[in-house]
Amino acid sequence: GTAARDDEPRPGGPADSPFVRACRRRPGPHTPVWFMRQAGRSLPEYREIRANVAMLESCRRPELVTEITLQPVRRHGVDAAILFSDIVVPVAAAGIDLDIVPGTGPVVAEPVRTAADVDRIRPIGRDEVSYVDEAVRMLVGELGGTPLIGFAGAPFTLASYLVEGGPSRTHARTKALMYGDPDLWHALAGRLADVTLSFLRVQVDAGVSAVQLFDSWAGALSEADYRRFVLPHSARVLAGLADAGVPRIHFGVGTAELLGAMGEAGADVVGVDWRTPLDVATRRVGPERAVQGNLDPAVLLSPWPVVEAEVRRILEQGRAAPGHVFNLGHGVLPETDPDVLTRVVALVHDLSVRAADR
Ligand code: CP3
Repeated sequence: GTAARDDEPRPGGPADSPFVRACRRRPGPHTPVWFMRQAGRSLPEYREIRANVAMLESCRRPELVTEITLQPVRRHGVDAAILFSDIVVPVAAAGIDLDIVPGTGPVVAEPVRTAADVDRIRPIGRDEVSYVDEAVRMLVGELGGTPLIGFAGAPFTLASYLVEGGPSRTHARTKALMYGDPDLWHALAGRLADVTLSFLRVQVDAGVSAVQLFDSWAGALSEADYRRFVLPHSARVLAGLADAGVPRIHFGVGTAELLGAMGEAGADVVGVDWRTPLDVATRRVGPERAVQGNLDPAVLLSPWPVVEAEVRRILEQGRAAPGHVFNLGHGVLPETDPDVLTRVVALVHDLSVRAADR
């Protein structure tokens, strides 16, 4: 047949891009770079287009999703686009009444704390998130050789929003449920794993070139508790995509002690925040996985020589890894000057091309 084989990507296609090559620990022309939250409030064109549209509503309009997703690609020349959506979009599609409140984040009308509450989370499929299917198809057509990253929230991070009812610094209610009623916890996390896997399946079927599983708040847990309460559920999501033929990135914040376990959960690439140098992270993650990261987003608010020195250090330390995707350690801060992001992309490309030549 003529079907492209997973190990023989079409030249110039997204599977042959510097980004996917680095995820697969294959050599490429330069170190690829993209930024978590690259589509968002740091861009004036984003603020303008979002001026009269609520966040969740904007995620449900394929044309708007396509335009917002493309904005940072046009402006910065990043090596990948990330779908404009939010981790709570599939949870809302599953039947949970919630909103994204500006300056606060996701707020859930009736927090999920009992077995009856867990039953309110319905399974989803393509029909429940048809706007995502449509947006991904439009984007894949527009992007050509630039890969599109799909994403979803991992069970722990989603559960935290549902149980707390909104953002939480301590995740105290979530942990109380986990420790106090492990059976209910596993029922909730299992239900969320189903929703997450279905949501990622829709994106893969529509043509994304990679997926990122965001377990942003997993760093709140010890490694032992992570392995017992969280890893099995995230592992089921990642294993469910093993045959999808796209790299799987697994990211969290404050996860220095969890990097090995997050790799073992079934990731091809482990995301690293700014607290752990990439050479140290590489030792924890092992030779079988690439790493992604890890510039402190606050550094982008500093004078350019500081930014440049940090980019150089991260590229040097990233050379210890079998594959390195340059990124921030967490999302772009809204007050970031977008011109600095553009300069970082050019610098990463320039320095990594020259490193490959020497
Ligand atoms: O560019 C991209 O990275 C793609 C878009 C994206 C958004 N949310 C858009 C968004 C992605 C990947 C997310 C994931 C997400 N959402 C995560 C995981 C990543 C992380 O940051 O750890 C989490 C924890 C959420 C939940 C959430 N949604 C928060 C904490 C917030 C911020 C609230 C605030 O106003 O400070 C949101 C809202 C949100 N999601 C915005 C955007 C662009 C801001 C809303 C706006 O522009 O009005």
